[in-house]
Amino acid sequence: MTHDNLFPPDFLWGTATAAYQVEGSPLADGAGPSIWHRFSHTPGLVLNGDTGDVACDHYHRYEADIALMRELGVNAYRFSISWSRIFPDGKGRVNEKGLDFYRRLVDGLRAAGIQPLITLFHWDLPAALDDRGGWLNRNIARWFADYATTMFRALDDRQPMWATLNEPWVVTDGGYLHGPLAPGHRNWFETPIAAHNLLRAHGAAVAAYRAVGKGQIGIVVNLEPKYPASESEEDRNAVVRADAYMNRQYLDPIFKGSYPKELPSLYGEAWPSFPDSDFEDIRQRIDFLGVNYYTRGLTRHDDKKMIERADRVRNPRAAYTETSWEVFPQGLTDILLWVRERYGKLPIYITENGAAFYDPPTADGTIEDPLRVDYLRKHIRAARDAMQRGVDLRGYFVWSLLDNFEWALGYSKRFGIIHVDFQTQKRTLKRSAHFYKDVIRTRGGAL
Ligand code: FCB
Repeated sequence: MTHDNLFPPDFLWGTATAAYQVEGSPLADGAGPSIWHRFSHTPGLVLNGDTGDVACDHYHRYEADIALMRELGVNAYRFSISWSRIFPDGKGRVNEKGLDFYRRLVDGLRAAGIQPLITLFHWDLPAALDDRGGWLNRNIARWFADYATTMFRALDDRQPMWATLNEPWVVTDGGYLHGPLAPGHRNWFETPIAAHNLLRAHGAAVAAYRAVGKGQIGIVVNLEPKYPASESEEDRNAVVRADAYMNRQYLDPIFKGSYPKELPSLYGEAWPSFPDSDFEDIRQRIDFLGVNYYTRGLTRHDDKKMIERADRVRNPRAAYTETSWEVFPQGLTDILLWVRERYGKLPIYITENGAAFYDPPTADGTIEDPLRVDYLRKHIRAARDAMQRGVDLRGYFVWSLLDNFEWALGYSKRFGIIHVDFQTQKRTLKRSAHFYKDVIRTRGGAL
């Protein structure tokens, strides 16, 4: 932080997206299907039967989208690679045309002076690997490292930053425990295995990067600070369990080489024993941590909930987003301070932050989204507070550049600072985009 309260000149200001949510044309140019292609094409699993077949058509419109980024003045862009565009069969044969798309995208970003931050896995696992057990198969660490190495060789000379995984907690909780997300399993016993193999895959990719890459690599986790719904001891214990399950389960192995001590009793008979050497594989030095922050968890003891036996309660005094997430900017400051306290001072990027609100149409075609402006203002201020208190924060990425396919909720929830008309693909900057542009231009002065 500079003495005048401004963000540093080299701070990364970006927006974020993910392949399946924006690209469209999931099977183009020789790509294989991903589990999200299958999931969204299975009747009844995604709201309104929406799929990512067209999405924002970013696969064809990426140049125009880069031009929009230039208009915003961002100097960074976080996006993900669709693994099955590169390995249509999950492993083995490489599809050069898939690589070409990302080469063109990265070159376009570079030409526009925009730093790419590439996520290798943002949920769209190749269906061919799911057929072999997906995240439940221990071999996935090697499959992922091979894929990662292919990407490093293809793109590292263009100097992107790399993130291995996006939100492993959501992958396991949504994909293997409760099932609203692909692959849609509901199995308590699979959950810790999937989590563990995600962590092993992360470690294997970081190790592979040290052999071939020259830049920076990290991981993106979603962190949610937990606060007790009451002062009761029961609720305070529920907070500890919820925090172990959602936050520490992923960060402790990476930074400390072991799982939180609460986990075996939380999982009970579903807790497997893991080989000791796995923890050395997982605990690789990373160059930065990516933190996705949306809300906090106001937590109450609840015996009916699996694993963490804790549930989320509503705060009657708070504002909520369209996805029923409490607006709680203070939580961002708190969680960043917690990371520094627990894991030490390391470079951090806020790799996602944003909100879905209903954006009412106006007669003159402009889009006024005051609630999103307010959300962004308060959260960027909260990030600044954390920096002023010593957190080594290097960048901030709004989720999202564009309204897009919000997983099981389809196109019903809009997170973009740029509106997308899904009939015509017309893009319109919302008020929040203009606001973000001012914040960037003034290095936070416009907050
Ligand atoms: C995060 C996901 C991202 C998007 C936002 C709203 O959990 O990483 O793809 O869906 O939520």
